[in-house]
Amino acid sequence: MRSFRFGRGGGGGGGFKEWVLLFLLLLSAFSRSGASSFGHARKMLLREKVREMFYHAYDKYMAHAFPHDELKPLTNTYTDSLSELGNLNLEHLPQYYNGSALTLIESLSSLVVLGNYTEFERGVLWLSHNLTFDVDARINLFECNIRVLGGLVSAHIVAADNKSRLADGLYKNQLLNLAEDLGRRFLPAFETPTGLPYAWINLKYGVMENETTETSTSGCGSLILEMGALSRLTGDSRYEAAAVRALRKLWSMRSSLNLLGTTLDVVTGEWIEYSSGIGAGVDSFYEYLMKAYILFGSDEFWDMFHSAYIAVQKYFRHGPWYHDADMRNGKATYWQLTSLQAFWPGLQTLVGDVAAANLSHREFFNVWEKFGVLPERYLLDHDMLHPTEKYYPLRPELAESTFYLYQATKDPWYLEVGEAIIGSLNHYTRVDGGFASIKDVSTMQLEDHQHSFFLSETCKYLYLLYDNSFLADKNYIFTTEGHPLPVRSWWQERLPESHILSNWTFGKGGNQATHVSALSSQICPETIFRESVGSQHESACHVPDVHPSHRCRSHNECGIDSTTCRQRTCSMAGYCGLWLFV
Ligand SMILES: *[C@@H]1O[C@H](CO)[C@@H](O)[C@H](O)[C@H]1NC(C)=O
Ligand SMILES: *[C@@H]1O[C@H](CO)[C@@H](O)[C@H](O)[C@H]1NC(C)=O
Ligand SMILES: *[C@@H]1O[C@H](CO)[C@@H](O)[C@H](O)[C@H]1NC(C)=O
Ligand SMILES: *[C@@H]1O[C@H](CO)[C@@H](O)[C@H](O)[C@H]1NC(C)=O
Ligand SMILES: *[C@@H]1O[C@H](CO)[C@@H](O)[C@H](O)[C@H]1NC(C)=O
Ligand SMILES: *[C@@H]1O[C@H](CO)[C@@H](O)[C@H](O)[C@H]1NC(C)=O
Ligand SMILES: *[C@@H]1O[C@H](CO)[C@@H](O)[C@H](O)[C@H]1NC(C)=O
Repeated sequence: MRSFRFGRGGGGGGGFKEWVLLFLLLLSAFSRSGASSFGHARKMLLREKVREMFYHAYDKYMAHAFPHDELKPLTNTYTDSLSELGNLNLEHLPQYYNGSALTLIESLSSLVVLGNYTEFERGVLWLSHNLTFDVDARINLFECNIRVLGGLVSAHIVAADNKSRLADGLYKNQLLNLAEDLGRRFLPAFETPTGLPYAWINLKYGVMENETTETSTSGCGSLILEMGALSRLTGDSRYEAAAVRALRKLWSMRSSLNLLGTTLDVVTGEWIEYSSGIGAGVDSFYEYLMKAYILFGSDEFWDMFHSAYIAVQKYFRHGPWYHDADMRNGKATYWQLTSLQAFWPGLQTLVGDVAAANLSHREFFNVWEKFGVLPERYLLDHDMLHPTEKYYPLRPELAESTFYLYQATKDPWYLEVGEAIIGSLNHYTRVDGGFASIKDVSTMQLEDHQHSFFLSETCKYLYLLYDNSFLADKNYIFTTEGHPLPVRSWWQERLPESHILSNWTFGKGGNQATHVSALSSQICPETIFRESVGSQHESACHVPDVHPSHRCRSHNECGIDSTTCRQRTCSMAGYCGLWLFV
C-alpha cells in the first residue's frame, strides 16, 4: 500500500518539493470552496468550553501546587517532577529541590493564545524575581529543553514583541536571561567525544560522575528549535552550534536505508537499540528536522528531512499504520500503535501530504473512540492493549493533528473530532482538583497527576481548533511542547560553518554581545520596513505581499522576501510565509 510517490526510495530528490507546491496550490483552492456545516455559535461554544478547561487546570495548579512543578489533582497537592521526567527508575532524585514552577512556565504561551495578558504578565514577573536554575537537580536534557527552555524563549518573544506595559516598562528581557542561564547549564552535556549530548545533567554541577552514556534519538536530535532560537535571540552561537553538531553526528549514524535506531551511546557513537519507528524515543527528531527547516531556512535540514521521511514511508508504513523496523535491514520488528505516533499526521500536514495524514488520523481517532481516549500502546498484531502500558496521561497528539488537518482542509469533520476529544476529557479525566491522567484505559482508573503538557499543548491545540485568531498576523511553528515560535525572515541566515567545527570546545563564552542578533551581520530590511513604511532601507529584491495583512489565497499573492530574496509562498493557513519555497 506504499504510495508511488515515495516508491523509489533514497535517491530521487527534486520532485518532492515541486509536488508539495502543487499540492499546496490544490489545497488552497480546495479549502476555499469548502462550506462549513459547523456553525459559528457551536464553534464559539466549544472554544469557551476549552477555555474553561484550561482555567480549571491552571487555577487548581496555582492554588494547590505552584510554585512546585506539577499538580496532583486527586489529593490537591504537588510533585516536583522536573527531575522525574524521563527518569523511569526514579534514580538520583534531588533532596532539596523545591520545584521550578514548571506548569506556570508551560502555561505562559497558552495564556497568550487565550488572550490573558494580565495573567501572563503576573507569571512573567513572578518568574523574573523568583526562578533560579542554580539547583542541585539532575534533569533530563530533552525534557528540560522542550518544556522549560522552550517555554521561556517562546514567552520572551511575546513579552518583548508586545508594546504593552510589559514591554515598555517592567519587562527587561528577564525571561531571556533565565533562558540563557539555563542554556549555559546545558552546554557541558555536549562535551563528549562525539558531540552527542548526555541525556542527563545536574543543573548546578554539570554532568555527574558515572553518568549513563545512553540516550535516545529524540534526546539528542530535537534540541535545535529551542537552542537555535536562543542563539538567534542572544547572539551567542554556542547553543545552536551544539545542537547542529549533535544533529549532524546523529544523521551520520543512519543506516544505508536512511533509518536510525532508538537508543545510542554518546561516548562511542554506537547504536544500542537498532529497532525504531515514529513513536517514543524518535518522534520529535523527524518533527524538528522539518520545523528547523521552516524556522531557519537551511536546505541542510530539508535534505535530511526529505530522506528520512521517504525512509519512514517506505519501511514503517503499512496502510494507515506505522510499525517499527530494524534500521539495518528495514524488517518489521514491533507491530504496535503508540499514542505518541498520533502527532505524525500533523507533521505530514505541514509537509503537504494531507491525504496520508487524513488516513492515519482517522485510524487514530477510531482507536480513541473505541477506548474513549488513546491507550499508550496497542498491539496491532494481536489486536489488544499492551499488558502494562494501558495509560492515557492527557496526551495532546491527536488534538494536535486534528488542529493541523483542520487548518489545512477546513473540513468541519475535524471540528467534530475535537468536540469528541473535549467530551472524553471532561467525562473521564476531569475531577474537582483539575484533570487527572488515566492509569488504565480499560477501567478508566485515574492517576494522581496533571502533566504540564496538558496546559501547554492539549488545551492549546483544542482552543486553536475553534479560534485561530492568535495565528492571524504571523506564521508560527509550534515546538514539540506546543510553544509557538514566530517564523522570522532574519532568522533564516546561515550560522557560519566556523561556529560548528567538529573539534569545537566550549570556552568561556567569548565576547558576544547579548540581546542582539550577532548572526545578522546585515541589517534586516524587513524589520525596518515594518517600523517605518517606505523607508530607504528596503532591500532591492523586496516585493511586498498583495495584502498588507499577509493574507493570501494563492502563491501569486505573495511577494519576494527581503532577506532571502526568495518568493514567499502561501501557507496552508492562508498567510504568505517562508514555509516551503521551491
Ligand atoms: C526546600 O524547602 C524546604 C522546606 O521548606 C527548605 O528547608 C529547603 O531549604 C528548600 N530548598 C531549597 C533549595 O530552597
Ligand atoms: C486571566 O487568568 C486569571 C487566572 O486564572 C483569571 O482570574 C482572569 O479572570 C483571567 N482573565 C481573563 C480576561 O480571562
Ligand atoms: C516571589 O515569590 C515570593 C514568594 O512566593 C512572593 O512573595 C513574591 O511576590 C514573588 N515575586 C514576584 C515578583 O511575584
Ligand atoms: C500585546 O498585549 C495586548 C494587551 O495588553 C494585546 O491586546 C496585544 O494583542 C498584544 N500584542 C501582541 C503582538 O502580542
Ligand atoms: C563511579 O564508578 C567507579 C567504578 O565503578 C566507582 O569506584 C565510584 O565509586 C563511582 N562513583 C560514584 C560517584 O558513584
Ligand atoms: C479524508 O478521508 C475521508 C474518508 O476516506 C474522505 O471522505 C475525506 O474527503 C478525506 N479528506 C481529505 C482532505 O483528504
Ligand atoms: C580545529 O579544526 C580546525 C579545522 O577543522 C583547525 O583549523 C583547528 O586547528 C582545529 N583546532 C584544534 C584545537 O585542533
